[in-house]
Amino acid sequence: MLECPFPDATHPMTRKILVTSALPYANGAIHLGHLVEYIQTDIWVRFQKMRGHECWYVCADDTHGTPVMLRAEKEGITPEALIARVHGEHSRDFAGFHVRFDNYYTTHSAETRDCANNIYRRLRDAGLIEKRTIEQYYDPVKEMFLPDRFIKGGCPKCAAPDQYGDNCEHCGAAYTPNDLRNPYSAVSGAKPELRRSEHYFFKLSDARCQAFLRRWTQGEGRLQAEAANKLQEWLGAGENAGEESRLTDWDISRDAPYFGFEIPDAPGKYFYVWLDAPIGYMGSFRNLCAREGLDFDEFWEAGSQTELYHFIGKDILYFHALFWPAELEHAGYRTPNKVFAHGFLTVDGAKMSKSRGTFITAESYLQQGLNPEWLRYYFAAKLTDTMEDLDLNLDDFIARVNSDLVGKFVNIASRSAGFVVKRFAGQLSTCDESLPAFRLIRERGAAIAALYEAREFGKAVREIMALTDAANQYVDSVKPWELAKREGRGTDLHAACTNALNLFRQLAILLKPVLPALAAEVESFLNVAPFAWSDIGTTLAAGHAIKPYEHLMARVDKKQVDALVGANRGSLVATPPAPQKHAEKQEKAAAVAVAQAAVPSADGTHISIDDFMKVDLRIARISEATPVEGADKLVRLVLDIGAGGKRQVFAGIKAAYDPAQLVGRLTVMAANLAPRKMKFGLSEGMVLAASDPGNETPGIFLLSPDAGAQPGMRVK
Ligand code: MSP
Ligand code: ZN
Repeated sequence: MLECPFPDATHPMTRKILVTSALPYANGAIHLGHLVEYIQTDIWVRFQKMRGHECWYVCADDTHGTPVMLRAEKEGITPEALIARVHGEHSRDFAGFHVRFDNYYTTHSAETRDCANNIYRRLRDAGLIEKRTIEQYYDPVKEMFLPDRFIKGGCPKCAAPDQYGDNCEHCGAAYTPNDLRNPYSAVSGAKPELRRSEHYFFKLSDARCQAFLRRWTQGEGRLQAEAANKLQEWLGAGENAGEESRLTDWDISRDAPYFGFEIPDAPGKYFYVWLDAPIGYMGSFRNLCAREGLDFDEFWEAGSQTELYHFIGKDILYFHALFWPAELEHAGYRTPNKVFAHGFLTVDGAKMSKSRGTFITAESYLQQGLNPEWLRYYFAAKLTDTMEDLDLNLDDFIARVNSDLVGKFVNIASRSAGFVVKRFAGQLSTCDESLPAFRLIRERGAAIAALYEAREFGKAVREIMALTDAANQYVDSVKPWELAKREGRGTDLHAACTNALNLFRQLAILLKPVLPALAAEVESFLNVAPFAWSDIGTTLAAGHAIKPYEHLMARVDKKQVDALVGANRGSLVATPPAPQKHAEKQEKAAAVAVAQAAVPSADGTHISIDDFMKVDLRIARISEATPVEGADKLVRLVLDIGAGGKRQVFAGIKAAYDPAQLVGRLTVMAANLAPRKMKFGLSEGMVLAASDPGNETPGIFLLSPDAGAQPGMRVK
């Protein structure tokens, strides 16, 4: 009998779906916080594809804005060169975590420019664009208008110096740049002046936008409950027609110099990054259409029958649930079916932090040799359909991956596959489909699909793990390893292993959206075509030959996680943008990248004070010093840096110092060097010593602080 592959589908047989994740800024590295979103979206897209739907996943780098312009300038390269490099890094990081976009493009593209111009013209013709003169801070030295985040000064409340223009990191007060004491430009250091400039506004306060958004945001299932409430707040109760608009018009232009698209009918004015960023979704898709022969209009024209979903973080809800649908609607395009907002990632219960080493980049995770699917599984196990924050607890991460994936799931295959290959020439016998575990999988398959569909990945994973427990109970009851030792039990052993492998195959299918690389290895060792969702409930035919089994997944070692945290401690990556700060988000991240002018040194080269401050120098007490076997120049030191813990360092000082004499003395170490694996062990920093290589006897002189310095004190 031919079964409908989607017995629980409420949709037409093949849906046409376009999915996006937010476009990451091109001025920073991808970190584990970002990955929450891209992994979440990727799991959902892979699930849709496994169901046989036509599902396209597009994304791009968000390239425009002042921060990219200034950072490129600082690096002495063009913005185009900078964004090309970052595009390569981002693409590499996403691929490393098996995030498989159908197109990963850039907002700095002809397609995005065309779409942006088109939307702007249509809004203008609809009477929704207005010119207005505003006053804004201007840097007279750098000759540019300054976004709030590029203005610094004393906090008006607690007087802490060098605070940003919108809030104080010392006392938490919020204010405007006008309130700062002695404001200065973070770009040049100059005192900013207020100047007038003509800006372009999208009239969100227009009655048409209000009426549309009231309707749109209440659409069935369009927004999560929590998001819908937020929107209500932003929109105002609004039942009474007379109520004044709560939405303010949105400034969509910036003055030159700016890296972005010039507004077609306004020379010297540029579209603000948030105008072209969501349009980058269209640009990326248009580019994909050209490659795949798809019909752009079928997906984007008003009245489109295809589905459109945006996955975003809760910090950019305002843009995606207000501006973006209002723009689309009034420019004559379709609007999204749903906007899915997720919460923010914390690590060990706190905001990711560079000093604690929990601001972990995607690159460092892969470089340290951690398996990307460990993280995909852990995130999946924690994800819900809400905007709640989720925590990566590092001990829990280790325990969960080891117990669920290695101890339960992979264990089923590793306890049965070997016998099939060794004793039965790799051939399976007949699977007993009446086993309780098998019946359970058939029963729960549709419910698990519904959980994936609803982005309740944590619940889906729990269901799958309950089925995995049932499969393990079966294996424990038949004990293939004991059957294998007994005479005349060959048939029973064959049946037991066949059943176990069939159960394992079912679980691998259910987990495939989360663990695509592992699933591919299972497909290859089971010698079968790529799994589809419709394979659930089916068995492999008797006589089917499998390939030799190789261990599928290693356990997480605590040492690896410790090394990862060590590698990220004080690492030089962009600061994560704070949640809930929408309009100035971009500027905030960039302010960090802007160094103040520094005085050149004698030979003309110079580094900024910010560059110098990146080196974390600490007073360290040498708590152990031992010779290193096989290395006659090296001494192995254990350095105590107080609250920073103990670090092992290999120093080339044996010629000058007797290790035993070193124990107990104070010195200075560079504490945020990336740890390096050496032949003799992990090196976690460097001690500072003077020498003169030009001299015949260069000598080595360890640095010592004056009396009173304590281990852990910062040196600067
Ligand atoms: N460029 C804008 C988005 C434009 S979309 C048209 C942007 N970029 S971002 O790089 O700051 O963030 C990209 C996505 O990652 C956003 O959805 C953001 O919410 C998400 N995350 C960034 N840090 C995060 C965490 N720490 N935790 C979870 N998600 C996070 O915003
Ligand atoms: Zn303050």
